[in-house]
Amino acid sequence: MTVPFDFSQLIDQSLRQAASQTEGFDDTFDPGIRPAEPRFGDFQANGVLPFAKQKKTNPRQLATALVESLASVESFPSDAISVEIAGPGFLNFRLSPALLLEWLKHFSTESDLQAGAGDLLKGKNAIVDYPSPNTAKQMHIGHLRPMVIGEAIKRMLKFAGANVIQDDHLGDWGTNFGTLIMAIKREGYDLDATADNALAEIERLYKSGTALEKEAPSIRDQSRAELVKLQQGDAENTEIWNKIVAISNNEFSRIYKILDVKPDITLGESFYRDKVDRIYAELQECELAEESDGALVVFHPDHPRFAKQPFIIRKSDGASNYASTDLATMIHRVEENTADMIAYFTDGRQQDHFQQLFLTAEKWFSRKGYPLPKLEHVWWGTILGEDGKAIKTKSGAPIYLRALLDEAQERAYAIVNEKNPELAEDEKRSIASAVGIGAVRYADLSQNRTQDYTFSWDKLLAFEGNSAPYLLYAAARIYSILAKGGVSKTDLTEVTKLASSLETDAELGLARKLALFPMALEQALADLRPHFICTYLYELTGTYSTFNNADKVLVDDPEVKARRLLLCARTLLVLETGLHMLGLETVERM
Ligand code: ARG
Repeated sequence: MTVPFDFSQLIDQSLRQAASQTEGFDDTFDPGIRPAEPRFGDFQANGVLPFAKQKKTNPRQLATALVESLASVESFPSDAISVEIAGPGFLNFRLSPALLLEWLKHFSTESDLQAGAGDLLKGKNAIVDYPSPNTAKQMHIGHLRPMVIGEAIKRMLKFAGANVIQDDHLGDWGTNFGTLIMAIKREGYDLDATADNALAEIERLYKSGTALEKEAPSIRDQSRAELVKLQQGDAENTEIWNKIVAISNNEFSRIYKILDVKPDITLGESFYRDKVDRIYAELQECELAEESDGALVVFHPDHPRFAKQPFIIRKSDGASNYASTDLATMIHRVEENTADMIAYFTDGRQQDHFQQLFLTAEKWFSRKGYPLPKLEHVWWGTILGEDGKAIKTKSGAPIYLRALLDEAQERAYAIVNEKNPELAEDEKRSIASAVGIGAVRYADLSQNRTQDYTFSWDKLLAFEGNSAPYLLYAAARIYSILAKGGVSKTDLTEVTKLASSLETDAELGLARKLALFPMALEQALADLRPHFICTYLYELTGTYSTFNNADKVLVDDPEVKARRLLLCARTLLVLETGLHMLGLETVERM
């Protein structure tokens, strides 16, 4: 038998096949597989009960008939997976120790695991739209989540076999440029792209520009005139705009580099400025858009709120906006990149925008016969300070990302320096970067993303609890135990040959937990929520330490030692695979 990547899927498919050959079942039957409590088995199918209830039949009888058919399903290894009917009709499955050992032996590298997962989204073209910051503004702590969550989900999708394209949809085309150009010209300011504070200067100019506008309406008219000139392609204003874009991108890419964020394409909002006319035309032609008070809007009569709340796609002054740009972007992605799926990453305040965008696109695409991709708005809550309010510096200013990431590495450096003063300076630095940046990422990812989370240095850098240092330290400990056992994660041939059958509860418990990794990944993919992977890794680390406390690894018996070293090595493998997927780097010492 070929070793399956995910036992839960094997059981699910086998049960569906068994059901199709069993009287009383139809294709609405969902086996309902989930991990079982260890004393009952490894997996439980609890779908017979609700099905029997709905069909008004006896669940126990249905379950008995199903188990009988299962024995004749060819793909199901009856000799290696035992089934038991429990209570009124639950099915409990237990994998044999030999099968678990086979699994451990088979999946020996990250690419093996990836090959196993690679069927999940094979051949799908997915566009991930992040971090998509707005030009002319410094990135602050609010931009952390699109980068951290976006990067983790990009990697999850890739791991599951999708062709992923990251498109950085920069907000580089808006009314703010009128104000900026006006302020730059009034001050006679010479933008210096090489200055370290160039972007901070642009922010300052924008602030002074808006202050001036408030004082005098004539200045507001000047800003408007500058904007119109820019929109019409005026050479001087285009040059200023180009400089602002370059300065912003320069600063963004510094931060992307620290966070290992690498967009494949960067088509900002400005790219779509000549592509919105098509949107106005098609949406009117499909009878979706109508004029209202001079603006072009879309209503959704079938929606409780959007029947009255318009989706404005052209402002009354004739200008395009965020909505028209997003519609143009969507059709572009479908036509140019044959996107099967598009995921947008922003905070929760944009939920209405994306709901209206998706509703509009569904109707527009269906009326025009365009293939509609799967659309996902991956949104999140606010980062709170320890006072429970949206996080800010003491003076009320935003916390800039560059400063935050520097601080993370400094704090981690202090910890490493205290724990391991004897390490070489450059090793200390690289550990500090893995731990510091990893801790910031992990604190964000381990929370269910739709909830707000409290940013706390002490918690995210703690060596206990569900934190990056805890997991990274566990991985480093395994590196050291493997070294003591005379093996390494890439050199396990001997150990794999020698390993004897798993016996103790702790060994079996750990093997079982390792084989649940695929289910955690699928759970995280189902709703694009990386915290399921974090929870799993945290639990795995706990199971590993139970094993480590119960069973000595480096014993004299070579076969027992071999199987325990194999368990250690596979724990490290799954831990590293998961952490890398979340965007963390692992270290061999810390
Ligand atoms: N620039 C936007 C912002 O900072 C996010 C853009 C998200 N992507 C999109 N296609 N709307 O809020």
